[in-house]
Amino acid sequence: MKVLVCGGAGYIGSHMVRHLVGDGVSTVVFDNLSTGHRESVGDTAFVRGDLLDATQLRDLFSQHRFDAVMHFCARSLVGESVQQPYAYYENNVAGTLNLLQAMRDASVGKLVFSSTAAVFGHPESELIDESHPTRPINPYGASKRMVETILEDAARAYGLRSVALRYFNAAGASPQGDIGESHSPETHLIPNMLRAANGDAPSLKVFGNDYSTPDGTCVRDYVHVDDLADAHSRALDFMASNEGAHAFNLGNGAGFSVMQMIHAAGEVAKQPIPFEIAPRRAGDPDRLVASSGKARRELGWQPRYTDIADIIDTAWRWHRNPRY
Ligand code: UFG
Repeated sequence: MKVLVCGGAGYIGSHMVRHLVGDGVSTVVFDNLSTGHRESVGDTAFVRGDLLDATQLRDLFSQHRFDAVMHFCARSLVGESVQQPYAYYENNVAGTLNLLQAMRDASVGKLVFSSTAAVFGHPESELIDESHPTRPINPYGASKRMVETILEDAARAYGLRSVALRYFNAAGASPQGDIGESHSPETHLIPNMLRAANGDAPSLKVFGNDYSTPDGTCVRDYVHVDDLADAHSRALDFMASNEGAHAFNLGNGAGFSVMQMIHAAGEVAKQPIPFEIAPRRAGDPDRLVASSGKARRELGWQPRYTDIADIIDTAWRWHRNPRY
């Protein structure tokens, strides 16, 4: 089995690469290093390249005979997508089309695609399952939903097998502490809390405390990055016996508010997290919590990290001594 991991030097991709290599799967990473880190994939075969370069993709597929592709490449910041929609549609949709065309030309028929809770838009129920309407409210979510639609069409037209995994809030890091989340600028809650705990940032800004949630701060479903990687491996197995385009929601099914996260991180770091209340951030829904029953039933997926303190603890191990 040989797998191409596009975006394998990014936060989630690098944990996936470690998982595949640990399973003895021959793995090639393709990444433009726009946000990824070369160090995060060690001595795994690495090609620096861009999905927008069709010639480079053709060369890649002519040099390797891949059984499947995992596709993590994307621009993924909601706020930025509102400011720069063309960049999001170009990278996330046009780039993916180039990849799909190269796969078709090379007769590679299986894809695991990184999708997102942002395809749903404003939640209409406490727990979001796959029957929830998909009405994205920003270009990032729209770009991911467009790719899901393309995959549904590709299944019908070309017989492409695919699994779109809609992550809720990816969190944590490898417990070994040598790979983890590192963005510049950092926008995500857990790294920002831990940077405040470390003294790398003066304090955490809490974006809004007037949401309609029990304590007024936004509620999210944090799922460990190694559990996400495990779901991808299961998606590969699933495609061996299932045709068509499929989508699964991936979360723990438990919501934590920003204030609950600050409390939990303070316990893990054994010091209070300094914070201040700031205005709301544009585009943040009150609450996003997954129902992952379908992934449990059909993929046999069972997250190993169900305790929020354990998830934050793995992130804390990384943030105390980040390598990149
Ligand atoms: N937050 C803060 N302060 C910070 C950072 C975040 O208060 O410094 C809050 C946010 O406002 C939000 C929560 O913490 O309420 C979580 O924010 P993140 O930026 O960590 O994650 P998001 O919920 O914005 O992002 C996730 C996924 C995206 C997806 C999005 C959909 O990472 O892929 O949900 O809304 F698009």
